[in-house]
Amino acid sequence: MSTQPVISPTRPTGRKKITTISLINKKQQGEPIAMLTAYDYPTALALDQAGVDAILIGDSLGMVVLGYENTLAVTMEDMLHHCKAVRRGVQYAFLVGDMPFMSYQVSVTEAVRNAGRFLQEAGMDAVKLEGGRERLDAIRAIVSAGIPVMGHLGLTPQSVNQLGGFRPQGRDAAAAQRLLQDAKLLQEAGCFSLVLESIPARLAAFVSQSLHIPTIGIGAGAGCDGQVLVTYDLLGLFERFTPKFVKQYAHLSESMQDAFKAYVEDVKSASFPAVEHSVEMPDEEWQTFLKESDHLILTKKNVEQGMLSGNKR
Ligand code: KIV
Repeated sequence: MSTQPVISPTRPTGRKKITTISLINKKQQGEPIAMLTAYDYPTALALDQAGVDAILIGDSLGMVVLGYENTLAVTMEDMLHHCKAVRRGVQYAFLVGDMPFMSYQVSVTEAVRNAGRFLQEAGMDAVKLEGGRERLDAIRAIVSAGIPVMGHLGLTPQSVNQLGGFRPQGRDAAAAQRLLQDAKLLQEAGCFSLVLESIPARLAAFVSQSLHIPTIGIGAGAGCDGQVLVTYDLLGLFERFTPKFVKQYAHLSESMQDAFKAYVEDVKSASFPAVEHSVEMPDEEWQTFLKESDHLILTKKNVEQGMLSGNKR
């Protein structure tokens, strides 16, 4: 069963758990949805306390946390492991588990079973999966099982080999038309929301205005109903490449390097640990210990007297 979230005593009061309904309401009220990715407990705690509306446990974890070239190697077990960690840190944000490559493409039955595991075992509120018209049967079946589904159109990283790389999509009229049709089909199939990745801003705005469900853009301009970024990109923690659409709010990779170098220097120069980092012991206990252990100290005299005969190494 799902693990229970840890309740933080510093949590602000008056906030309510975000649901599919509140996300749809935000679109109707014109309030932009702020979504970010997380893969671990401390990041999840920080995101929830910062007030993000939704957290995606993205299969981007394959690249930014596990060091793979792309997301294709990520498994259901990888995803569930990280979803559970995030779940333990979150009380308010809406949690979306990303279905990994081959967890929903083989059959509708497998798609429903795997989607169910995200809710039943990892405590997610919804799942996300990539693709348009070719995924309608799977989406309908998952939604029929009572599981909210977020769609994902445009640059769909699990199709990187078919797309010929991580490149923007929907840039000619035919591709834009197809994407708009797919978006409408996903909405009709029951998706409660849609990620639009790396498509022209004016197309994303058009699609967003054509749907009643909220769109969440990444590299899709300001006309979407919400925005998502890969948190490691935003924090400057993933240095292999930074997509053009990323805004970096910190440079944590540099800060980490600085901290690690300072630690190495401190250890090498014996300035860490200092007294304040050490555990103390009452003097009288120490004196008693010394008296009782004196004969165990490896001195020349003790060795010659054979007092350590049983303890020699
Ligand atoms: O896996 C992920 O982080 C994603 C976002 C880029 C939307 O799918």
